[in-house]
Amino acid sequence: MKKIITVLLVVALLFSMVACAGAGSKNDKFVGISMPTQDLQRWNQDGANMKEKFEAAGYKVDLQYANNEVATQVSQIENLISAGVKVLVIAAIDGKTLTQVLGSAKEAGIAVIAYDRLIMDTDAVSYYCTFDNYMVGTIQGQYIKDQLKLDEGGKYNMEITAGDPADNNALYFYQGAIDVLQPYIDSGVITVVSGQMKFEEVATPAWNTETSQARMEAILASFYADGTQLDACLCSNDSTAKGVTNALASSYTGKYPIVTGQDCDIANTKDIIAGKQSMSIFKDTRTLAAQTVTMVSDILAGKTPEVNDTKSYDNGTGIIPTYLCKPVFADKNNYKELLIDSGYYKADQLG
Ligand code: BGC
Repeated sequence: MKKIITVLLVVALLFSMVACAGAGSKNDKFVGISMPTQDLQRWNQDGANMKEKFEAAGYKVDLQYANNEVATQVSQIENLISAGVKVLVIAAIDGKTLTQVLGSAKEAGIAVIAYDRLIMDTDAVSYYCTFDNYMVGTIQGQYIKDQLKLDEGGKYNMEITAGDPADNNALYFYQGAIDVLQPYIDSGVITVVSGQMKFEEVATPAWNTETSQARMEAILASFYADGTQLDACLCSNDSTAKGVTNALASSYTGKYPIVTGQDCDIANTKDIIAGKQSMSIFKDTRTLAAQTVTMVSDILAGKTPEVNDTKSYDNGTGIIPTYLCKPVFADKNNYKELLIDSGYYKADQLG
């Protein structure tokens, strides 16, 4: 009898040891990363950089991409919660759609970091790690101002293409640029010939290249087909700039305008080298990934992570403490130093 009881106890002990080893909840360094899409180059880099840096710091990582579909992102986050992650790092597709699922994360005691894009209407978000979004717009506006020498007067025509209204960043990019350019619009130095100026009129759902191309083709056909000169296209990022430069290639024959962008995607950097796009904003995703890993490690160690902005980003439940990385201006004169010498791209990737 004694023998049987001992055998049963040993079996029970072995069983519980195996069960514990298999449970995700026992891993204290388990991070879930939820990225919006693999369609745009930048999110592939963000994901890969974070995975590499988290793993180097001893974390187990589950990295998910949601194909730009909100329902997919929600269910991927649900799965990460069930798998036992301790921290979620999320770049939201639509900042206003994660309230419910992040309620479950909070209940499970999971720390949530909003990555690059602020997540709205939830008190589950502990910190926000991003680039200075308003500064991105300021640099774009300043570039147009400097290139056209707007302070010297003159008359210039400009069109505006902004980002996805579901992305909290998009309004910051737009506003940063408009705050630089508005005085010149008011004084008549700049004319937006289409009359489309408000954010809602110039926004591009899902940052989609085809959508921005179709809109710019319609504007060119309606307002510039008579030979009216277009001097500047303010575009919030590279995917929208690509649509605009495609439209210019197919439907515009005047003197080529200034075109702004953001991200230094490979295709757009090639366009800068070829003179089809004038500038972009370099947001070194290695820096953002490293900052996020530091933030997560501090949180898990019970330390208060470093932040450098505690006033700009209110997500509807209060200010979210934020670390802002610095965006950098890039054009054909400095891209080699910024992108190749720094090891971000290999020279042959830029053809
Ligand atoms: C990012 C940009 C990016 C855009 C489209 C924004 O939230 O900050 O870098 O170009 O999304 O993916």
